[in-house]
Amino acid sequence: MSAEIPKSELSQEKEPIRTKIIAVANQKGGVGKTTTAINVATALAASGLRVLLVDLDPQGNATTGLGVEKVNTEKEIYSAIIGDCTLSDTILPTAITGLEIVPASADLAGAEIELIELNQREARLKLALKEIFSIYNYILIDCPPALGLLTLNALVAADSVLVPLQCEFFALDGLGQLSRSIERIRNAFNSKLFIQGVVLTMHDGRNNLCKSVEADVREYFGSLVYKTVIPRNVRVSEAPSFGLPAIVYDMHCTGARAYMHLAAELLRGDGRLPEGEAA
Ligand SMILES: Nc1ncnc2c1ncn2[C@@H]1O[C@H](COP(=O)(O)OP(=O)(O)O)[C@@H](O)[C@H]1O
Ligand SMILES: [Mg+2]
Repeated sequence: MSAEIPKSELSQEKEPIRTKIIAVANQKGGVGKTTTAINVATALAASGLRVLLVDLDPQGNATTGLGVEKVNTEKEIYSAIIGDCTLSDTILPTAITGLEIVPASADLAGAEIELIELNQREARLKLALKEIFSIYNYILIDCPPALGLLTLNALVAADSVLVPLQCEFFALDGLGQLSRSIERIRNAFNSKLFIQGVVLTMHDGRNNLCKSVEADVREYFGSLVYKTVIPRNVRVSEAPSFGLPAIVYDMHCTGARAYMHLAAELLRGDGRLPEGEAA
C-alpha cells in the first residue's frame, strides 16, 4: 500500500495536522449560527484545508443546508454522543471538496435529557471527537440555540467559540450569560477555551439601530469583533433551500464575499494565513 501513497501525502504525514475545534455558539436562535458555520466551513475547505462540520442542533439545519439527506438516522451525531456508534461511522461527504459533515436528526433533541444519566455527560462529544481528531485542520460545531447540555458538550470539546451576533436591539442581551458560561466552563472543564471572535451578521449599514448596536458591541468586545461584517443578503437566505452554502450558490453575492473575508480574517488570527493574503 505504501508504494501507492503519493509523495506529497507522505511529507504531510511527517508534519502532524494542527486541529482546531471551533464551536459556533449563541443561545439566541436565528442570529446566523448555522449560516456562519456552513459558509466559514466551506471557505476554509475552499482554501485547501480539511474541514469537518458537526451539526449539533436537533433542527439539523446545517445538515439540510449542505444538501445532505438524513436517510440513515441511526448514524448521526446523536448515536455517536450516546455511544451507539463511533463518530467516524457518522461522517458523510458533502458536495464541497475538503468538507465533511456529521449530520443531525430530531433524535438529538432527546440527548439533552438522556445525557443527564450518562457518565461524563459534558465530555461525550470531546471523547467522540478524539478518534478522528488529527484528520482535520478545522472542526466546526454548529450549536443549538440554548445553553443546555449539547452546547456544554460543544464548549468542552472546543478550543474556541465563534459568536455570531445579529445587529438588533437585544443583541447584547444574553451575551453576559454566554460570557459567564464560557468562564464557568473554562474554570471547570476546559481551561484553554477562548473566544475566537464575534461576527456581526445580517448587518445593514444604512440602519441607524444597526450602527449603534455595532458601536456598542465593538466597545464591549474590542478587538474580538471581526472587522468583516456579514451583510443582510437575500442570496444568503436562499442558498440553504438549494442545499448549498451561499459561497457556492452565488460566490459573487455580497454575503458570500463577506464570508470569504471572514474566513481569511479567522485564518490570519490563527496565524495560518499571512497578512494581506486572501483565503
Ligand atoms: N446574511 C444574511 N442575510 C440574509 N439572511 C440571513 C443571513 N444570515 C442568515 N440569514 C437567515 O436568517 C435565518 C436564521 O439564520 P441561521 O443561520 O439559521 O441562524 P441560527 O443558526 O442562529 O438559528 C435563516 O433563515 C437564514 O437563512
Ligand atoms: Mg442554527
